[in-house]
Amino acid sequence: MLSQPKIAALIVAAGRGTRAGGSTPKQWQPLCGKRVIDHTLAAFQDHPSVDRLIVVLNEADMAHAQELTDKGCIIATGGVDRAASVRNGLAALGDADQVLIHDAARPCVSAEVIDHVIAALQSGPAAAPGIAVTDALWVAENGTVAGIQDRTALYAAQTPQGFDVAAIRAAHARYDGVAADDVEVARAAGMAVAITPGSIDNLKITLPGDLTRAQRILEQTMDIRTGNGFDVHAFGPGDHVTLCGVAIPHSHGLVGHSDADVGMHTVTDAIYGALAMGDIGQHFPPSDPQWKGAQSHIFLSHAVGLARAQGFELTHVDCTLICEYPKVGPHAAEMRKVMASILAIDLARVSVKATTSERLGFTGRGEGIACMATATLVKS
Ligand code: CTP
Ligand code: MG
Repeated sequence: MLSQPKIAALIVAAGRGTRAGGSTPKQWQPLCGKRVIDHTLAAFQDHPSVDRLIVVLNEADMAHAQELTDKGCIIATGGVDRAASVRNGLAALGDADQVLIHDAARPCVSAEVIDHVIAALQSGPAAAPGIAVTDALWVAENGTVAGIQDRTALYAAQTPQGFDVAAIRAAHARYDGVAADDVEVARAAGMAVAITPGSIDNLKITLPGDLTRAQRILEQTMDIRTGNGFDVHAFGPGDHVTLCGVAIPHSHGLVGHSDADVGMHTVTDAIYGALAMGDIGQHFPPSDPQWKGAQSHIFLSHAVGLARAQGFELTHVDCTLICEYPKVGPHAAEMRKVMASILAIDLARVSVKATTSERLGFTGRGEGIACMATATLVKS
């Protein structure tokens, strides 16, 4: 059996995004909870056939290099135009057999579009996604229609454009001048380029409104989950309670196997719930002596770690403590800070609030503290 070819993805991200505007180049702008480039990189990192990722960065963006290297990317430096950036990337990609050259500015690329290009490379040296033009095409002069362009056989070009590495390196080495994309370079060297199915969702963020379009596209395919948690701990002997990581002096303590932080336990369960991965008791059985007196941040970090390992971002936590005493309000700001730090998310995404139960029920009688929480996880 023939061994599988080694496939590299070369992401060009060295442009300045002048047409899209904004205070930073488009690839660094926020999109659905991450940056544009993070979506692009994830599409290739998550693809089972892609062995390595090369990212071409502008010299001015090298502050991002370490973080991308840590994620396993090889970094190359951009050139004066796109073709020069590609050439630098081709020089850095090592011994791969095939390369998929892709615009960082196309964050909505799907696995299917990538699959088609890879499949076509089995029978030829070059393949790229295109979309048959369906709109009528006009030739304009001074704002009026001066002619009709026949659209038969016209395609709109997309990326990733796939090539045999040796062939595209040779083509780039010989090419002189400006190129819209690598297909133009390949054709100049006489390579046959197969057209594979593109997707209208695989847009290139180019103009100011395109980020909003990309957001709409990604939201359709986003996996958004909410999980809820509920927990109760009874009062017992002690002089303080620990709620959401903050020790509050009180006439009683809370009874529990660990530090009995009912707030943190509830948020932990909400995250497990969103993942549909059981509950705190399953992951940290009370029967196991190693968790006796354990600090609850261990449980919370475990849950959020599981979420991240599965590619989810924790986008929001809302936690409601239910008790008559102690009064939570004066400590809520500190609780939010502690929780946000353990969860490694913005303070603005963490809510901690409290209510009494109007002296009704076990919380009203001061027998214990209850808590309910919601956690939202997003995978895009
Ligand atoms: N690109 C690059 N090096 C360059 C120019 C462009 O790596 N010297 C990359 C861009 O970062 C982008 C892709 O090529 O991912 C497509 O280019 P384009 O859409 O033109 O992006 P920009 O050049 O950044 O945008 P603009 O032309 O509006 O400045
Ligand atoms: Mg450009």
